[in-house]
Amino acid sequence: WLMRQVGRYLPEYRAVRARVADFIALATTPELAAEVTLQPLRRYGMDAAILFSDILMLPWALGQGLEYREGEGPVLPPIRDAAAVATLDPGRVAGALMPIMETVQRVRAEVGDATLIGFAGSPFTVACYMVEGGGSRDFAYTRTMAYGNPALFRRLLDLLTDATVGYLSAQINAGAEAVMLFDSWAGILSPTLFRVHVISPTARIVAALQERHPGIPVIGFPRLAGTLIGEYARETNVRAVGLDTAADPALAATLVPGGVALQGNLDPLALVAGGAGMAAETQGIIAALHGRPHIFNLGHGIVPGTPPEHVAQLVQLVRAAG
Ligand code: CP3
Repeated sequence: WLMRQVGRYLPEYRAVRARVADFIALATTPELAAEVTLQPLRRYGMDAAILFSDILMLPWALGQGLEYREGEGPVLPPIRDAAAVATLDPGRVAGALMPIMETVQRVRAEVGDATLIGFAGSPFTVACYMVEGGGSRDFAYTRTMAYGNPALFRRLLDLLTDATVGYLSAQINAGAEAVMLFDSWAGILSPTLFRVHVISPTARIVAALQERHPGIPVIGFPRLAGTLIGEYARETNVRAVGLDTAADPALAATLVPGGVALQGNLDPLALVAGGAGMAAETQGIIAALHGRPHIFNLGHGIVPGTPPEHVAQLVQLVRAAG
């Protein structure tokens, strides 16, 4: 399967997306969300489906406003002080996210032999968008809060950690067979704060899920974690670690314990290019991870301009190698 295998690069996604006003309407209409979740399986025969939703549906469910603006990405009213944190209401989450659980149930009923992967953002990455009020190149407000008001930042992360356990647990109860934690901005922290805000909340989430749902694997994706990926794998107990595009698979294989699967890590832009360049990169990654559990994937999500036929070529290359 591939990160962001559902999305605007697929004409059949754009057709469904055009039937609703915005992204949130699509994510909260189970019939349509289930339909787009299954699109890449129908087109390419992927071996896993990833729930169609977004990591920011959790802040939305907590009562923080959320809007997806065309060409601008997500926009939220920033949370930067204690009063703003106090407006977040964990009591709303289960009810607000009910339509997403119905999507999971619908997909599970139709997915056949493929695996259904549920997901959430990691508390740190979700906090980045909540504090900043949207995307950012450097998440300067968030990092400044983490260093300057550690008690408040910690309170926000604790709230998100508890809510994420509940959210992922509900997805598993609805039929998710594995879950992934997207920590897209893990790599922007110092090693000290990486331990506090990435490793520690992730370890708490994995432990809570293991207790409630023994045997359900958790895939962690601490993007741009560099050499801290080994410590991340050892301390969090995830069953698989996603490698970002910049990670050297051969080095990652020496840092991450042998029983932990590695997932990744073709550059999404190699997929845009297709052809011989993509084939060489793909074969290099597969060779570097030969002999250990490897889930072939990208190093980050598919980008909108990707030619759908390149995805078909990639699936064929990976099948031929396996
Ligand atoms: O196919 C899949 O991977 C499953 C669905 C999925 C989406 N977002 C759908 C989506 C998943 C797993 C995500 C995760 C996500 N969302 C992350 C973590 C992974 C990463 O990319 O780093 C992050 C940071 C977000 C936040 C987010 N959502 C942004 C910044 C944007 C705007 C940028 C963009 O690509 O448009 C979104 C919107 C979004 N999420 C779209 C999709 C298909 C595009 C919405 C549209 O149809 O216009």
